[in-house]
Amino acid sequence: NASVENISVIGTGYLGATHAACMAELGFNVIGVDVDPEKIAALSAGDLPFHEPGLPELIRKHVDSGRLRFITDAEYSTVGGWGDVHFICVGTPQQKGGTGADMTYVDAAATGLAKAITKDRALIVGKSTVPVGTAARLSELVAQEKNDGVEVSLAWNPEFLREGFAVEDTLRPDRLVVGTRSEADEAILRQVYAEALGRETPWVATDFETAELVKVAANAFLATKISFINAFSEVTETVGGDIRTLADAIGHDTRIGRKFLNAGVGFGGGCLPKDIRALQTRVSELGLDHTMRFLDEVDQINLRRRKKAIARAFELLDQDIVGKKIAVLGITFKPLSDDVRDSPGLDVAARLFNAGADVAVYDPEGNHNAAKRYPRLNYVDSLDAAVADAELVVLTTEWDEFKKLTPADLDGKVAAKRFVDARHVLPAADWETAGWTFAQLGRKFEE
Ligand code: UDX
Repeated sequence: NASVENISVIGTGYLGATHAACMAELGFNVIGVDVDPEKIAALSAGDLPFHEPGLPELIRKHVDSGRLRFITDAEYSTVGGWGDVHFICVGTPQQKGGTGADMTYVDAAATGLAKAITKDRALIVGKSTVPVGTAARLSELVAQEKNDGVEVSLAWNPEFLREGFAVEDTLRPDRLVVGTRSEADEAILRQVYAEALGRETPWVATDFETAELVKVAANAFLATKISFINAFSEVTETVGGDIRTLADAIGHDTRIGRKFLNAGVGFGGGCLPKDIRALQTRVSELGLDHTMRFLDEVDQINLRRRKKAIARAFELLDQDIVGKKIAVLGITFKPLSDDVRDSPGLDVAARLFNAGADVAVYDPEGNHNAAKRYPRLNYVDSLDAAVADAELVVLTTEWDEFKKLTPADLDGKVAAKRFVDARHVLPAADWETAGWTFAQLGRKFEE
């Protein structure tokens, strides 16, 4: 086997930019490729269009070391398929007007690569989250489109990185999953990931379909876990009981585990919501209409959490929210991210605004992205500005800054002591003792 030296990464969004930088960190020569010349220019200067701890530094380090370059797809198509291995990291967003995955970008990337590659042998590796069956389909597409006399094969290697921990998750993954149709292709991927393998990272070598399914199964399981505890939230909100203690207690069972059992306003982001919908859609296409129907419930439970947060806000304001100043704290889909895609917090803020409230939004990182989506909300740049003269404070994303809040911090600043802790992260007793009307998702509320 020839040794792998050059790696190209097609698509330099969240996944691709991280993967490219991490491949350079592992010692490979890397080219990141994107259709967007502005993105290429920004990345080349070490400027990231999103917030990800440690990534800008890693990109600058390897742009400076000469191991990492970013170029447009037009340029890349003229270098004969420079890479020994080509990772496809483009997006698979939810279809406009549908629930399936939009495969336009993945198909274009695979076709573009197949036409561009002129060296004797190359491996294309899909990393994007795709409907099962995609790798087999792309394999045929690549075979049709590739140049004569060139050997191009395909592999699937799903990515499990979390926003906020993208570099760590890529360099030190919990496991590596590779779907291939030959031992030779698997061997190439073993070379790419030799460092992680040296640390005994579990290596799951399998077929295309399993590799594709592992990714969506993992995300469906995580989403289900969150909606499971949130369903119990609906029970404790009605009958009483403590959802955190319940989660801790079942979490002690190592078969269950405590992670992803935090009840609150539910999941959002660029992955879990769209992935459960795409999975369901794909499985229905396969004729298995009932099989993933529970994911519909998972989705519904999740969306009901947002409604619950809003209902509590209405209750605390005696159903009269028009013109009332409400401070919404946190509008990213989770802390340590500036991503507001399908964010529960932003959704809640926008709906309170649409119902007539005077909403002041503060998020440590997300204001600029949220402002692009909902320009009419009032974005302020500090917690104090948000809560000043507020009739109600709603905590929707559990940034550290908000988790550390005490009643004393807000004393004398708000117009009325009313609080909805939609992530269930603050000690209710302290707030109640300090005279606050304090509601929490997952806890029974009695005025
Ligand atoms: C997720 C998967 O974790 C990752 O493996 C996959 O590659 C991409 O999708 P990410 O979208 O970055 O990653 O976020 P994650 O940390 O999984 O959180 C998803 C959402 O669930 C957030 O909105 C978070 O607030 C919410 N969540 C998480 C809960 O509501 N409760 C929990 O207990 C855990």
